[in-house]
Amino acid sequence: MHSKLPRIGTTIFTVMSQMAKDFGAINLSQGFPGFDADPKLLELVAHFTTKGFNQYAPMSGIPELREIMAEKTMRCYGFLPDPVEEITIVSGATEAIFCAITAVVDPGDEVILLEPAYDSYEPAVILSGGIPIHVDLKPGEFSIDWEKVRHAVNFKTKALVINTPHNPSGYVWTEEDLKQLASLVRDRDIYVISDEVYEHITFDGRTHFSLVGHEELREKTFVCGSFGKTFHVTGWKIGYCIAPKDLMAEFRKVHQFVTFSTVTPIQYALAEYLKDAAHYEGVSSFYEKKRDFFFEGLKKTGLEIIPAQGSFFQMAYFGHLSKISDRELAERMTQQLKVACIPVSSFYHDKQDPKFIRFCFAKEEDELEEALNRLQGLSKIL
Ligand SMILES: Cc1ncc(COP(=O)(O)O)c(C=O)c1O
Repeated sequence: MHSKLPRIGTTIFTVMSQMAKDFGAINLSQGFPGFDADPKLLELVAHFTTKGFNQYAPMSGIPELREIMAEKTMRCYGFLPDPVEEITIVSGATEAIFCAITAVVDPGDEVILLEPAYDSYEPAVILSGGIPIHVDLKPGEFSIDWEKVRHAVNFKTKALVINTPHNPSGYVWTEEDLKQLASLVRDRDIYVISDEVYEHITFDGRTHFSLVGHEELREKTFVCGSFGKTFHVTGWKIGYCIAPKDLMAEFRKVHQFVTFSTVTPIQYALAEYLKDAAHYEGVSSFYEKKRDFFFEGLKKTGLEIIPAQGSFFQMAYFGHLSKISDRELAERMTQQLKVACIPVSSFYHDKQDPKFIRFCFAKEEDELEEALNRLQGLSKIL
């Protein structure tokens, strides 16, 4: 059968997680927490499921959740979106990104993707008949090469997908990055899809600059977020999109026929849980301790590392130790050291291999400690 996505196979996350299982390895590959959510949140979900909140929610999300999200956006980013027309609750950030791309991209439109990139962006562009234009981030810190981005923009450019804090590198956008982006899209009909799923995970005193907090950029931007990432419940697949009214109207036309609406009792639970800002304001320090612990141990393995600025991923460079491919290294690590990670080449459309691997450190400390012990044997497998 003709395939609309001929280059897409099973994702590397599935491959590495399966390999971790097969070889009894500690799975630091896929990005999900190895611990449970706050019991308070779980109790709220139990409460709303047993009290009969189990039928379809309104298409755009329950008003209580949209209202508290508007307040939270004001509190975190200094802008109060209209909860009725500018916020939609969706089934995960992946859905938000898909709907936003589908809403704006026409056949032949170019969409700029910064690589390494999360894997859902490109298929969404292709399914809309768009043309992905890949721009590499600067290997090392993986900051934005604005000169290259400017070069990639032309009259066919319809949108740009950005991600801060960034998966896989952990890079966090600066105010200067926002300024550069604003000047790039000024006076051009270019939309921005801003993937901010790690908005509440930044380290060393860094601030997450949401595009919704930027007066000029928010007029052209779909901000996509995930409750799954913030509250350690990735399996719930629930997220949100914030965009100006006219953009949101188009977004909802797509969302309406992708999922229509999102799981009802969890929306009620989140609306209640979000009333206490400590529930999301404490997430950065929670993960910073894990980042520090993991970073210190990883330093002793011989890998070259720059501490992650945000997200729950730590990248590591191995090019000075070996010429093998990142995929080969990830496989040897899983099979012989019994620690699974992700080869960063899988975040590039052309599978280029700048010799980085990515670890997820959203795990209990004893699991991280055991993984670090095993990784001390790295030189033996190279
Ligand atoms: C950068 C990035 N965007 C989006 C997602 C997906 O978020 P959700 O599970 O809410 O769909 C992930 C999950 O790994 C991610 O890392």
